[in-house]
Amino acid sequence: MWVPFTGSACLLLVASMCSGLSSRSQELRYPPERIAVIGAGIGGTSAAYFLRQKFGKDVLIDVFERGTVGGRLATVNLKGEDYEAEGTSIHPLNLHMKHFVKELGIPGPKRQGGLMGIFNGDEFVFEESSWYIWNFIKLLWHYGLNPLRMHMWIEEILDKFMRIYQYQAHDYAFSSIESLLHALGGVELLQMLNQTIDESMQKSGFSQKFINEVVAGVMREDFGQGTSINGFVGTLSLAGDDPGLWSVEGGNKRVCSGLLQTSKAQQISGTVISIEEKTRQNGRSGGIVKLYEVTYDSTSGLEREAYDIIMIATPLNHKSANITFLNFNPPIPEFSKPYQETVATFVHGQINASFFGYQHPSYFNLKHIVTVENSKLFINSMVTLYPVKIRKDALNPQIWKIFSPQPLTKEQMDLLFISYDATRVKTWLAYPHYSPPEKCPPLILHSRMYYQNSIECLASGMEMSAVSAQNAALLAYHRWYVNTDMIDQEDLHERLKTEL
Ligand SMILES: Cc1cc2nc3c(=O)[nH]c(=O)nc-3n(C[C@H](O)[C@H](O)[C@H](O)COP(=O)(O)OP(=O)(O)OC[C@H]3O[C@@H](n4cnc5c(N)ncnc54)[C@H](O)[C@@H]3O)c2cc1C
Ligand SMILES: *[C@@H]1O[C@H](CO)[C@@H](O)[C@H](O)[C@H]1NC(C)=O
Ligand SMILES: *[C@@H]1O[C@H](CO)[C@@H](O)[C@H](O)[C@H]1NC(C)=O
Ligand SMILES: *[C@@H]1O[C@H](CO)[C@@H](O)[C@H](O)[C@H]1NC(C)=O
Repeated sequence: MWVPFTGSACLLLVASMCSGLSSRSQELRYPPERIAVIGAGIGGTSAAYFLRQKFGKDVLIDVFERGTVGGRLATVNLKGEDYEAEGTSIHPLNLHMKHFVKELGIPGPKRQGGLMGIFNGDEFVFEESSWYIWNFIKLLWHYGLNPLRMHMWIEEILDKFMRIYQYQAHDYAFSSIESLLHALGGVELLQMLNQTIDESMQKSGFSQKFINEVVAGVMREDFGQGTSINGFVGTLSLAGDDPGLWSVEGGNKRVCSGLLQTSKAQQISGTVISIEEKTRQNGRSGGIVKLYEVTYDSTSGLEREAYDIIMIATPLNHKSANITFLNFNPPIPEFSKPYQETVATFVHGQINASFFGYQHPSYFNLKHIVTVENSKLFINSMVTLYPVKIRKDALNPQIWKIFSPQPLTKEQMDLLFISYDATRVKTWLAYPHYSPPEKCPPLILHSRMYYQNSIECLASGMEMSAVSAQNAALLAYHRWYVNTDMIDQEDLHERLKTEL
């Protein structure tokens, strides 16, 4: 169905050619009429939310989704209960996620935890203990002051990262990932994209044993890759091991459907196939308007819609979005950065403690296993899960979630478990395969077309997608109304300090 486009005579024309506009730069143009968001994961749905906030109630916002709302946030059902299918954890300092949950009125976030061990393929090189003091002594014994120093190192980088919330609260936007990172922490932060977390931490004097065991364990669980990932994503990932992690009651994906509803965006079910820039004569004024024509495959066949602004909120590569950009000059480049495949296996069963080097299986009480790099290991991590809806009155079945680079074979399952009676498997194209020096794709793909998932080169995560969504909404707004003084400003940190 082709929806003819009307209005917007002054769309790309200077104010003097249109009548009845004031001279304030804010009002040089008519507001956009239609905005498309491609993807209804946390990135796309939070973009709809921020776009509505910025562009007001009249703009039409369409969100295209070929699968289910939530994208990489999903649940799986096992033995009658739903479980978080991807990562579960949201950091207490993830302020956008926190705000969404509060604004949507989703009941109190739930926390979970359990003792953790680092497995090297034969035995545990470190095991947490439930007794706090004993745990502290063990950590000191194994890793000296490394854990304490790591805490300070993370704090320093998180402090810089947190500046983004202040910038965004003041409406500032950035036109590239590099300029965003530079505004947060200068060359020092930018350099973290050029180094592996291993190099970064070695330079800061952390011991190789600590890096190979603790740091590698966390990286392998969070990103299915070892300590060769870039220093920035590595540090955020380490921060993710802080106490106080939470996830959303009922499933993290609830935030996405909530945002979609609150934003009064229209969801369109279908697969976007191509985007093409079109120039059209405007019926009323005879002026020329430039629009993006989105072609998508829906249950009723190929359809087309035209938009003023496009937000792409999915990784753009052939294996995932597979969108063709037609007739752009210069052409939109291909983004070939590979994404890492991670298999999540959900198992209701009894763990085989002797596989993990236990002489006395009855002593085994770990709920969370991470691994070091070892070619004979076929899992990255495993953790016990609780249903997304915790019922106080019922005995919740204990489910293990295993992350592995390949699907587990029957033989491997028989090694990990003494017995099991139910499994589910979900294969994810989960996150970028990081290999510093990291070169980020552009945020601005074309004059009014934005690529939110460019931010994944920095770090992939729910909060990162939300940060990028707000940035893209602000960027689209300021570029539409030519507020150049709100984009890529230097020394914001110092300036906002004196403004307050
Ligand atoms: C195994 C795993 C563990 C993780 N652990 C954590 C964690 O602990 N903490 C954390 O913060 N993050 C974690 N993440 C990362 C987090 O899930 C993602 O960073 C985040 O969900 C990405 O959201 P997004 O909206 O940017 O992209 P997506 O969720 O991928 O959304 C993109 C959407 O676009 C749709 N789409 C794609 N192409 C088209 C098309 N052509 N037409 C129409 N629709 C299209 C897709 O169907 C999808 O729904 C994990 C991810 C995985 C896979
Ligand atoms: C990172 O590396 C790229 C090339 O690999 C280089 O162009 C850039 O200047 C480097 N950035 C920093 C901050 O060192
Ligand atoms: C990508 O899209 C093209 C045409 O739109 C199609 O022929 C091709 O099979 C698709 N590739 C994948 C990996 O989905
Ligand atoms: C458990 O692990 C041990 C040691 O790897 C292995 O020999 C055994 O076959 C596994 N399975 C069971 C059911 O004990």
